[in-house]
Amino acid sequence: MKGLILCAGRGTRLHPFSYSQPKTLLPVANHPVLHYCIRKLIEVGIRDIGIVINPTQTQIVEYVGDGSRYQATITFIEQTKPLGIAHAVKIARPFIQEEPFLLLLGDNLLMDSLHQLHQTFLAASAEGALLLGEVDRPQDYGIAEICDGRIVSLEEKPVAPKSRLAVIGAYVFTPAIFEVIHTLKPSGRGEYEITHAIQGLVDKGYPVAHTVTDGLYSDVGTIERWFEANRWMLAEEVGDRVKAGTTSVLRNCECIGPVLIGEHCRLENCRIGPYVSIQDGVEVKNCRWIRESILLENSSLIDVEWIVEDSVFGRSSHLIGLHTSKTGVFIVSDKSTILFPTEQKKAGT
Ligand code: G1P
Repeated sequence: MKGLILCAGRGTRLHPFSYSQPKTLLPVANHPVLHYCIRKLIEVGIRDIGIVINPTQTQIVEYVGDGSRYQATITFIEQTKPLGIAHAVKIARPFIQEEPFLLLLGDNLLMDSLHQLHQTFLAASAEGALLLGEVDRPQDYGIAEICDGRIVSLEEKPVAPKSRLAVIGAYVFTPAIFEVIHTLKPSGRGEYEITHAIQGLVDKGYPVAHTVTDGLYSDVGTIERWFEANRWMLAEEVGDRVKAGTTSVLRNCECIGPVLIGEHCRLENCRIGPYVSIQDGVEVKNCRWIRESILLENSSLIDVEWIVEDSVFGRSSHLIGLHTSKTGVFIVSDKSTILFPTEQKKAGT
């Protein structure tokens, strides 16, 4: 079985952070979402992996390289126009050839293993298998209607959902899916929908199996969901501990886990945590308290009397000299500097 990960989406709801890097490279517990997708495929023994990117996403090619650090073989496939999931699958046909494949949406973070989905597909001798999960807002997803344990219909973002069971970005298909994709027309949003292709399989009488997970899942599509995913992954990877790279220096810091600190960081006179992830090269000095936040590469926070929470500091961004005592949320884009002049300190404002 091959693996196919789709990364070509634009990620507009994660601006400004997805301006400078693809959404699938945004770090969750210091690793890109894409890293966890590759790891999930490898866990079920899939090492021949195609990644669909748009031609501007050279950072993905640089990050994944030839896949040797995952002991996987990676093939990049270019999708020049954002025409939807089924279109991305269609252009991956030369890579897939005649094999079954496990398809993942590269911005979806699944906390469960893919083992159950993989086994369901193999055991059912089906032409497709879907991972479903119960969601709070079914209108935002592809929704499955199940009757007597079988999928009878699928609807993309239904106005009146027939269930709360959503397709959560993990699918297995045989090449039978290509027969249907060739017949699809674009949907109202101008995309070739994979949901319609699966409906086509069902309509042709091909068996489509499913398995329902109660594991956590996020499509990391908004800043709030990015925080949520970061919290889950920190809890999973770090527990309630504090994990710091060996080249990082912590002096007079109180850390409340989970806290994850990358390499070459300098932290001095500060209180950090819980649920804080700090990427490489970050400097934090004389800061009262940073909690539930994400600090991206080479950012710095210096002389900050505020309690900083639910905040993101972009790559090479700087927050310097907030001398009053308040609690606040900061969403600081890459390379910006927020500098409060020292006069404010003297005036006590
Ligand atoms: C896509 C699929 C949808 C699926 C969702 C999972 O939606 O079209 O069927 O439920 O991913 O995240 P989109 O992210 O394009 O809105």
